[in-house]
Amino acid sequence: MEIQKQLKSHGAWVGKWTFILAATGSAVGLGNIWGFPYKAGTNGGGAFVLIYLGCIVIIGLPIMISEIIIGRRSGNSPINAMRKVAIDSGQTQAWQLVGWSGIFAGALILSFYSVIAGICLNYIFIAVSSSGAISASEEFGNVISSPINLLFWHTLFMVLTTLIVAAGVKDGIGRMVKILMPMLGFLMIFMVIYSIINGDFNRAMSFLFAPDFSNVTSDTVLQAMGQAFFSLSLGMGSIMAYGAYMPKNQDITSTSFTVASLDTLVAILAGLAIFPIIFAFNLEPGSGPGLVFVSMLSAFNQMQFGQLIGPIFFILLSVAALSSSISLLEPGVAYLSEEGILSRGQAAIAISFFVWVLGIGSALSFNVWSDFHLISEKNFLDSMDFLANQILLPLGGMLIAIFVGWFMKESLIKDEIGAINPVIYYLWRFFVRFIAPACVAYIFLSQIFDLNWIFDFYSG
Ligand code: PHE
Repeated sequence: MEIQKQLKSHGAWVGKWTFILAATGSAVGLGNIWGFPYKAGTNGGGAFVLIYLGCIVIIGLPIMISEIIIGRRSGNSPINAMRKVAIDSGQTQAWQLVGWSGIFAGALILSFYSVIAGICLNYIFIAVSSSGAISASEEFGNVISSPINLLFWHTLFMVLTTLIVAAGVKDGIGRMVKILMPMLGFLMIFMVIYSIINGDFNRAMSFLFAPDFSNVTSDTVLQAMGQAFFSLSLGMGSIMAYGAYMPKNQDITSTSFTVASLDTLVAILAGLAIFPIIFAFNLEPGSGPGLVFVSMLSAFNQMQFGQLIGPIFFILLSVAALSSSISLLEPGVAYLSEEGILSRGQAAIAISFFVWVLGIGSALSFNVWSDFHLISEKNFLDSMDFLANQILLPLGGMLIAIFVGWFMKESLIKDEIGAINPVIYYLWRFFVRFIAPACVAYIFLSQIFDLNWIFDFYSG
């Protein structure tokens, strides 16, 4: 019988900290250091930050707990996890579609993620040799104007991602995150201190934390929500897949809280490292995807030992990207290998190849295809970003919340959640059943029907 089919096991994380590190490794990445500052910048700052934080607490955290519950309950890749838990709860197998959509979203995300991460790799070398002879914005312009250059680094990054995922859960992913994540944290703090001393810290603080709601539109809210899903790696099965390898005795609620807090902390630190420099050098906060590269390189160019600290910063940024990219690839690879369709290594190569081809479009969108618009005014990279982050992830997350809130057997949930303060449990359940799905649905609908008049109304 189908249900009894024996699926290959992937092994488990060793020790309590490995899940936390791997999940934090997945969550903390380009989304925090590259995406968050530039999206806050293009969306006017404080109001975006506040809405983003709200989305993390109200929508993100409850859904993260839900994903881990499903993953650990089944021990399988998201497709089979959704299918198995649905069957065990007496529901239709069609819930596995959530897993399929996740794998699709993961491929879309990884395709452009790898291009940006490739630029980070490239910057390791640029930061070594940069003398400040040409401005940091010109330098960025040179980097992105060459398709061959972008494709080279995109290819290299995809190869690295493939190798780690092929090596497996314990030896590949688990080992790497242990050393590098703490290093990244340390260097972020160093950069913030440097920025506080040398940059315009006051303007950065008021830009990031003094909300001005007068420019908030339904699009701002959708972007903030998409960014929250993206940053926490939710809605596409990464955290679910990692949850499958989590030891049974680990507490899901407190672990999720730790991961979400660390992720948010790094995003805020990135903002505090970048904006003081932006303002001190009169750079444009809303300049878009080049923000982190331009601002950090101009800081390193002025700084003593900049040619040493600069490369270290970009090495760690690349590592943060790598510990996220592997989690984007893992759900699909886990599925193909547990089904016995391909070996782990073959599966990693097959999916990566598809992703690599798709990524060419994003690399070209910086140069020869810059005038090509896929979805409305968006170029290829922005279209992938939009489709995945603002449509597929929130939709996937909403369905996961609805599934856990309304369809999954409560006894199974309680088994996974374990001993927990009843108030926290009911609070979580309330958020998963009502608040999270309703917020996502509302934000979608307000986009579709463009309910901007509501914001106009409130902001006078
Ligand atoms: N959370 C990662 C980041 O912020 C990106 C990511 C999204 C990883 C979805 C896995 C799944 O960079």
